[in-house]
Amino acid sequence: MVGNIFIKAINEKPNIVLGLATGATPLPTYCYICNSYKKGKVSLKNVSTYNLDEYVNLGHHDKNSYYYFMHENLFNQTDIQERNIHFLNGNAKNVIKECQKYDKKIEKKPIDIQLLGIGQNGHIGFNEPSQCFSKTTFKTKLTASTIKANSRYFSKSKMPREALTMGIGTIMKAQKIILIATGKKKAKAIKEMLKGQVTPRCPASILNFHSNVEVFLDKDAASLL
Ligand code: GLP
Repeated sequence: MVGNIFIKAINEKPNIVLGLATGATPLPTYCYICNSYKKGKVSLKNVSTYNLDEYVNLGHHDKNSYYYFMHENLFNQTDIQERNIHFLNGNAKNVIKECQKYDKKIEKKPIDIQLLGIGQNGHIGFNEPSQCFSKTTFKTKLTASTIKANSRYFSKSKMPREALTMGIGTIMKAQKIILIATGKKKAKAIKEMLKGQVTPRCPASILNFHSNVEVFLDKDAASLL
């Protein structure tokens, strides 16, 4: 269903700018886009993308990097052009500059549709629960909950404790936002996001202040609503 929204949007605007997320949640959407490309129903030749986040100290070719994940699960299976793919560099020497550069790039080519998953603790991108919303892209420390949830993806190596992420302000500038959540483990975060207060303690709650958001839930993720 979400896959089809993307296919329609790309066909309507072939040079669309997409903000993309990693994790298990968007995989069916990416699979749908790849299959549509293979069937000749869509081309990503003029599509540009920005990914939400990247682990600190993981090079692009590390199998646990989000850069690698996106190439495996979407980019390498379509005709997207590498020069249109934008990523934060987790190995950047000057992290502050890297984050500023990313925000400037996004300002020049703003995001039409931002795809989001949600962390069990209500995070979006790697905006962890905290005292305030971050306006811009920044380096963040991962919380124990995120480390526990994401460690399953790291078979041999130790999961990084820090990441670079688009800030809440950056995410909120997207013209349209689509959030997907599946599974019981997301039910509490979804309840807090939709029924609770808008607070940086549940970063996803800020989406209540965006005028064009669509939320897609399966029964389990919606079970506490
Ligand atoms: C990571 C990513 C998020 C993603 C979350 C949920 O922490 N930084 O962007 O939404 O994981 O992942 P999953 O879909 O695997 O539950």
